[in-house]
Amino acid sequence: MNPRIEIHRDRQSLADALARLVADAAARAISARRRFAIALAGGSTPKDAYERLAQPPWRMRIDWAKVDVFFGDERCVPPQHADSNYRMAREALLTHVPLDPKRIFRMEAERSDLGRSARDYAERLRSTLGAAPNAVPQLDLVLLGIGEDGHTASIFPDVVELVEGPELVARVYSNAKQSWRMTLTLPVLNAAREVVFAAAGAGKRDVIARILDQLRGGDTGLPLPAAMVRPESGQLAFLLDREAAGDPGERTKQP
Ligand code: 6PG
Repeated sequence: MNPRIEIHRDRQSLADALARLVADAAARAISARRRFAIALAGGSTPKDAYERLAQPPWRMRIDWAKVDVFFGDERCVPPQHADSNYRMAREALLTHVPLDPKRIFRMEAERSDLGRSARDYAERLRSTLGAAPNAVPQLDLVLLGIGEDGHTASIFPDVVELVEGPELVARVYSNAKQSWRMTLTLPVLNAAREVVFAAAGAGKRDVIARILDQLRGGDTGLPLPAAMVRPESGQLAFLLDREAAGDPGERTKQP
């Protein structure tokens, strides 16, 4: 698999590019199907892009009333907790744009019965996206980050077998993070029309190089979770800043 790679000067231009990409994907989806279903990434990298989407020009260019917002994963904390991915997205974007509140689908990862909550979320994915009983719901766009251990969403190297399906949403315990998480599983990520990884900083350079090698069939080491994201028919892209991309000369086109 040969993903599209964009290398941006710094975090700010990466955030600008990611906001533009989301707006373009929304326009395509809404024009084609009168709706846009996105799964937001957690972590710190996408926050700047979410803030841009809440400001001109993107705030006015997206028909927010036709947008369904899902989440790629969530920490098992209440929605107002500082670690909540929902809280980060809410403060950076969701409260600043005219979304239909009924079309914001928060992962209720604080519930005591996490397995039940994961099953409920999977059902909301199915019913909202109109997937056939045995089909995997298709999101228009999935945003993902990458951890230095190669994890993405909450698919950590030590839980991969739990997230290869058939469940659409899984509860996982991350030894790395010493915490429970809820996450979309690989089948959902790989069914999406478009998957975009956003990563910045020199700390990500080595793992991104390994992931790209694995995607291209090079690195035959233990598969890294982020390298297991291979959309069946969708587009795959990496939006990187120069630090995360390593030597830009070794990689494909500049933006
Ligand atoms: C989370 C994310 C996780 C994140 C990566 C990268 O809940 O933390 O789902 O997969 O995207 O850890 O995080 P940064 O963007 O903060 O480097």
